Amino acid sequence: MANKGRVLISGGAGFIGTHTAHELLQAGYQVRLFDNLCPPVHDGSGQWPVWVPAAAERVLGDVCNREDWRQALAGVDAVIHLAAYQDLLPNFSRFFEVNSVGTALLYELIVAEKLPVKKVVVASSQFVYGEGRYECAKDGVVFPNGRNVSGGRWDPVCPQCGGAVTPLPLLETHANPKNQYSIAKYSQELMAVALGRNYGIPSVALRYSIVQGPYQSFRNAYSGVLRVFTLSNLAGRPAPVFEDGRQLRDYVNVTDVARANRLVLESDAADFEVFNVGGGRGYTVLEFAALVAEVTGTNLAPQVTGEYRVGDTRHSVSDITKLQKLGWQPTKTPRDSVQDYVKWIRGEKLDKDYAAEALVKMRQMGALRKATA
Ligand SMILES: NC(=O)c1ccc[n+]([C@@H]2O[C@H](COP(=O)([O-])OP(=O)(O)OC[C@H]3O[C@@H](n4cnc5c(N)ncnc54)[C@H](O)[C@@H]3O)[C@@H](O)[C@H]2O)c1
Repeated sequence: MANKGRVLISGGAGFIGTHTAHELLQAGYQVRLFDNLCPPVHDGSGQWPVWVPAAAERVLGDVCNREDWRQALAGVDAVIHLAAYQDLLPNFSRFFEVNSVGTALLYELIVAEKLPVKKVVVASSQFVYGEGRYECAKDGVVFPNGRNVSGGRWDPVCPQCGGAVTPLPLLETHANPKNQYSIAKYSQELMAVALGRNYGIPSVALRYSIVQGPYQSFRNAYSGVLRVFTLSNLAGRPAPVFEDGRQLRDYVNVTDVARANRLVLESDAADFEVFNVGGGRGYTVLEFAALVAEVTGTNLAPQVTGEYRVGDTRHSVSDITKLQKLGWQPTKTPRDSVQDYVKWIRGEKLDKDYAAEALVKMRQMGALRKATA
């Protein structure tokens, strides 16, 4: 197959990075992975996961380090920037060190060294929508500004009249980040579009919904309903469901995300744009927990804990029309993702109960709380 150039994938040893590397190698690209193999995503041994494709070059390094970026960027034609600090733990500054400063360093080096990078794709998140877009019978389309969850009043209300609202699909024209992760992710988007434009570096930001599939690290069980519910069920426990479990989410398979990454890498029409990458329809968390219980064969009814993650959003379902117009379509269902994940994790050696440990730590750090009366 003809060589299409060299693509650097930061965070390339991670979940989406691995699948993106496979997608690009198969399409005839040379691939270089740049990753610091940090815990809790990785096991702390400094070893690259066995599922990382052997045909990809590997650079061990940190996106917070200029010299590491310089080494990683030598001779590359494009960058897919996935490395990130994630989850909602309250070490706020770390989100900005890794996600914001790491991205600024990437652009700084491209400009300072006049690197011939022809495209940068940045991973953003559906989380940048914050509380999202709703319809109020009296006030029309509204954008609630956060929630008061006391007494378990989980749903947001109209910011104008205080009345009930119904969720609408999330559109790329909007952003209202409400937590440390999404504020830092939004800063990456803004840099990609603005600095990219100012300095003539074609850049695209992708707002992924909840991405699912094999290789999503079971060691990092601070987020990700699929890994947390699967680990809990396989340990013989019910899936811990936050709030009342009626929150809506959309789920997208990681192979569909890898295809989206390649599509915007190759499409000039995507330059300086922001796109949602989602599953196209919403499911309640309770529906999703029932699916995991069925596929794991445990059929354990979920446990609604009544707790909430500080800074979490209520309903998040992305509108995917904009990326569909570029020719992308999600092809796999949440059931496919759960089946693929459960099959993979059954073959992994789980040396401890990561899901239980993460819950304890989140409570200790105040990231997970009970709604007070
Ligand atoms: N998985 C999802 O559901 C989801 C949803 C929305 C957005 N995203 C975004 O997609 C990207 C990839 O997510 P993922 O699910 O593959 O995560 P992941 O944790 O599996 O992979 C991230 C990789 O980045 C590496 N990394 C972290 N800090 C680094 C640093 N300072 N220097 C170098 N490497 C570093 C990690 O070692 C890891 O291999 C992230 O930017 C994330 O914010 C993911």
